Amino acid sequence: DSPQVGPTQCVGPDYRAESQKPIATVSTEVQFDNVITLPQTPQLIALLTMIRSKNTERADFIFYSNRIIRLLVEEGLNHLPVVEQTVTTPVGRTYAGLMFQGKICGVSIMRAGEAMEQGLRDCCRSVRIGKILIQRDEETSLPKLFYDKLPEDIADRWVLLLDPMFATGGSAIMAVDVLKSRGVPEERILFLNLIASPQGIKNFATKFPKLRVVTAFVDQKLDEKNYIVPGLGDFGDRYYTM
Ligand code: PRP
Ligand code: URA
Repeated sequence: DSPQVGPTQCVGPDYRAESQKPIATVSTEVQFDNVITLPQTPQLIALLTMIRSKNTERADFIFYSNRIIRLLVEEGLNHLPVVEQTVTTPVGRTYAGLMFQGKICGVSIMRAGEAMEQGLRDCCRSVRIGKILIQRDEETSLPKLFYDKLPEDIADRWVLLLDPMFATGGSAIMAVDVLKSRGVPEERILFLNLIASPQGIKNFATKFPKLRVVTAFVDQKLDEKNYIVPGLGDFGDRYYTM
């Protein structure tokens, strides 16, 4: 296995000198304003290290993936609109705060995207969740749409689109086309994913410049089978069946 080339950085707690921090590969930088990458903290890098390792067994893969999904959902929620909300505290004082404006729903791209539903539910109680079944052809890597079931009023909602792997971008583009055909404006879609490829991001951000992407990590490239490298292999297989 040849060593992967990619940006590296000293990662560790702020109180440590740079020379005392270990070096790790961090997310590749992308120049699109609508792509938000999670801060490359020691915690995130350690969680990603667990799920990338081929030696990580399914129970741990699920546990550590779920932790990253939670970070993604929490960050995604920061990109929804808020309005002023002032409340009175038990000691009779006011606090000038905020509340979320507008209704949301989740939409998972099946199968792997369903793994992200619980993380969304943990943050947004009784959130509505739609499903789109898209499968990538193993030979051609082209996506095929099989099924969708979406909330009837989806056009009035903000949509958190869920899929952990963003390789060529074909599946996500197809899912966004379905959402747009149901009247969801591009600017009300947030796409949450764990690992993206630079190609997928470029294809997607060029086609949908107003849609926001929140990703944990942009990897180096795609291999000859359009798998993300270094990646983590097939997310759906590792989460559900391996
Ligand atoms: C994977 C993944 C994405 C897609 C990414 O799903 O979850 O949906 O491939 O590849 P792309 O960006 O090149 O389209 P897959 O179709 O393998 O199905 P699965 O969820 O059942 O594993
Ligand atoms: N789907 C996956 O699960 N992994 C990849 O690397 C690409 C598509």
